[in-house]
Amino acid sequence: MKIGSIINGEEYREETRETITVKNPYNEEMVAELALAKEDDLNRAIDISYDTFHQTMKKMPAHDRADILLKASKLLEERKNEFAETITKEAGKPLQFSLGEVQRSVQVLRFAAEEAKHIEGKVIPMDAAIGGENRIGFTKRVPLGVVAAITPFNFPLNLTLHKVAPAIAAGNTIVLKPAEKTPVSAYKLVQLLHESGLPKGALNFLLGTGKEIGDPLVKHDKIHKVTFTGSLPVGRTIRENAGFKKVTLELGSNSPNILFEDADLDYAVSSLVKGAFAFSGQVCISAQRIYVHQNIYDRFLTAFIEKTEALKIGDPMSEETEFGPMINEDEAKRAKTWIDDAVDNGAKVETGGERDGTLLKPTIMTNVKSDMKIIAEEVFAPIVSVIPFSSENQVVHQSNDSIYGLQAGIFTRDIDRAFRVADQLEMGGVWINEMSTYRQDNHPYGGVKKSGIGREGVQYALEDMTELKFYGIRLNG
Ligand code: SIN
Repeated sequence: MKIGSIINGEEYREETRETITVKNPYNEEMVAELALAKEDDLNRAIDISYDTFHQTMKKMPAHDRADILLKASKLLEERKNEFAETITKEAGKPLQFSLGEVQRSVQVLRFAAEEAKHIEGKVIPMDAAIGGENRIGFTKRVPLGVVAAITPFNFPLNLTLHKVAPAIAAGNTIVLKPAEKTPVSAYKLVQLLHESGLPKGALNFLLGTGKEIGDPLVKHDKIHKVTFTGSLPVGRTIRENAGFKKVTLELGSNSPNILFEDADLDYAVSSLVKGAFAFSGQVCISAQRIYVHQNIYDRFLTAFIEKTEALKIGDPMSEETEFGPMINEDEAKRAKTWIDDAVDNGAKVETGGERDGTLLKPTIMTNVKSDMKIIAEEVFAPIVSVIPFSSENQVVHQSNDSIYGLQAGIFTRDIDRAFRVADQLEMGGVWINEMSTYRQDNHPYGGVKKSGIGREGVQYALEDMTELKFYGIRLNG
């Protein structure tokens, strides 16, 4: 399968173009050949997005935008198996998780269809100011223009929709640059949205690298907003290059999960095995640090190791498989060196630690120190550390001792303690009696500190994809 960039509904994949290949991380089979975009494609995609915004999208009534999104959700639901299989092939994500991702994507489109009809302004009490008598003031939320969406490999469909669906709901147009490692599901999504009635020029799709396409896209004057999910270094460059544009950044995390003495241990163990190892830990809110009260530490660790070792590892295409490969061998090697560094400095591998090609076994570490990479940095791999603690203050301090602050989990039956700790955690979101890795698509999602800027979750992303515009009227008497 050869795929190309899509500009105004037309696909560009001529023989003369430079290509790169997408390979299945599990078996190295070729999934797609990508015909890369050139500089003039980028300019054309932006010009068409800009014109379509002014000529069509900003005038399109909310009910039409909602209908397009609703139709897309229905088409996606009908084709859920095909989309799930595409995600599994390009990302190596176990099929059961890919199906979950598609189901979430269907919901994101539905949420966006609903939100399109509720973009509301406010009446301002003008007479609150001296001299404001006989004046009426109100606000409207208006679309921004062209949104540049740069998306990651780990949720190639749903994290694309978290940007594209609210942008459409608000009446913007989009230039989408998917991750080069997993662009095929996004390519199919663009076609599906066009088929659902979205004007062809409203969603343009560019295949290319961050350097060739991402950087000039972010810098371009006709782009009004940049929304990005990915790593901290890339996020930092985007922030620097974006100038006065609005920017949403969803970056990394080394999410803590805290188990107090009174936690429901069986539940916490099952939940955290999923939370640490789903999609081989390649999830921004993956449970990376598990702090366990010293009185239940041994019991937790034994049960956690046992359940981790029972995970079904294998072909991601099999419905039974719970754990599969990492995105590529370089990433698996990188993660393995982080384990080895930690071991050289006194850490212990309780289970896992071995690598075979793209497969890094689910790995549990103990005896870790706060300055080890597996603790201090975003590991983005199937590596989790279990750390004992003795007091609430200590564990709050350890959890906050990070450059990141995306999402955390607390497990306790004491509601007062749960809220006390949640209030002190420097995070964009805190779950009580749930793993940090849990996310629903309608709650605000985003981080503090170096985890990012702004929030996603359809309603919140949509707000950031509009501008607040004031209208005033002076009455004559
Ligand atoms: C992420 O990796 O940031 C997204 C997690 C999710 O949507 O479940």
